[in-house]
Amino acid sequence: MPENSRASTQGREHQGASSEASKTTMVIHSIGELAIPPISKDGAIHGKEMANVARHKNAAIAIAGEKIVGIGTSDDILKEHGKAKDIQLVDAGGKLVTPGLVDPHTHLIFGGNRASEFIMRCQGKTYAEIAEAGGGIVASMRATRSATADELAKTGLFRLQRMLQAGTTTCEIKTGYGLDAQSELAMLQAIYKLRGQQPVELVATFMPAHAVPPGEDRESYVQEIVDDMLSRASKLSKEHGADAPIIDVFCDRGYFTLEDTRKIFVAAQALGMPTKVHADEFVNLGATKLAVEHQSLSADHLLNVSDEEITKLASSKTVAVLLPGTSFYLNLAEHAPARKMIESGVAVALGSDFNPGSCHIFSLPLIWGLACLHLRMTPEEALTALTVNSAYAIGAGDKVGQIAPGYQADITIYDVQTIEEVPYNLGWNPVNTTIKKGAIVHRI
Ligand code: NIG
Ligand code: FE
Repeated sequence: MPENSRASTQGREHQGASSEASKTTMVIHSIGELAIPPISKDGAIHGKEMANVARHKNAAIAIAGEKIVGIGTSDDILKEHGKAKDIQLVDAGGKLVTPGLVDPHTHLIFGGNRASEFIMRCQGKTYAEIAEAGGGIVASMRATRSATADELAKTGLFRLQRMLQAGTTTCEIKTGYGLDAQSELAMLQAIYKLRGQQPVELVATFMPAHAVPPGEDRESYVQEIVDDMLSRASKLSKEHGADAPIIDVFCDRGYFTLEDTRKIFVAAQALGMPTKVHADEFVNLGATKLAVEHQSLSADHLLNVSDEEITKLASSKTVAVLLPGTSFYLNLAEHAPARKMIESGVAVALGSDFNPGSCHIFSLPLIWGLACLHLRMTPEEALTALTVNSAYAIGAGDKVGQIAPGYQADITIYDVQTIEEVPYNLGWNPVNTTIKKGAIVHRI
């Protein structure tokens, strides 16, 4: 099939077994550019390899049930799969198609909003100054604790619906605005409930260590997380038939120390829970090094990551999740050193960090643009970072984030022709169709 890279590895014949053709339920045809990131069954894509995106022209995808069964030229796929009984034909109209976008870092569930903080920041106040003045995570904790479960579910659903319209098919959601056992477990329960209510696939992260609740001593709160909250979260996940939640810690000045983070990681690992960390957002406390030592799924933010840590990340499976929406929204002069990381061989992913304070942005096409503009990533690197690598950052890289036979049929179709046009159209939603597990869940 015509393409501009990887031609020799895929050959001219389309992939997929023809004996399966009668089971095909959907064919997406007339794709102007089918952009497919590098495939890896064994962890995220590192460094320069991230740019090796295959760009097939006049392509099609065959889907059976929830899975992709073939990719090839439109003519070949339609000839082989197009006549299956009750097949749904989706005309991509000569436009761009990518794997469904994966958001590996959100704080999507919260009560209230912090619009007033945004205005304070426009007038020159910093994130730390606003938090000291009674704003920040603790302000959202109050609003979240006083919201009813129904209100939290309703706003959660509204946000997920908007994400779907912007091409997000899988999304990680953190707790962290409850900050006591009961409210944190209620947030976790809300994530599990939202799973059954809408199509975006949700990966739960338990994050009681997002801030120290007012009036509490930090060390005793950490002890409570270690002795009680983690095992209750693990139990709740089992009751919901879910994988154990990922455990995250905000390791930064004014939040949790490196030693707190280590304690929480050790306890999480003893319970078989994967870990990740908010690292180096404001100052470097050594959290990225700790994440690599503990084989964490990811270290996120990394604005102040050291050269030594970049080298460690490069030879590890820990993914660097960069959040250019946050540095943009906080109006910071500096952004994470993405180019240095990619050139040093780190596996970089991108996420929205959607939250009520430091980044009220959920659109991954916008994040794609900010990654090109502020992190100097190429459109190809950004695509790999928003699909394969973001999937690995939340432990789902073996089933989502890729368009190849055997992967889940999660696909985003755009109103533009090429991957360059996504960052170029900064701030305008270029997505027209979202497909989740082989079904159209959004189309305009
Ligand atoms: O990723 N850094 C910690 N958590 C969020 C901010 C959350 C908030 O301000 O409510 C972040 O930037
Ligand atoms: Fe965050």
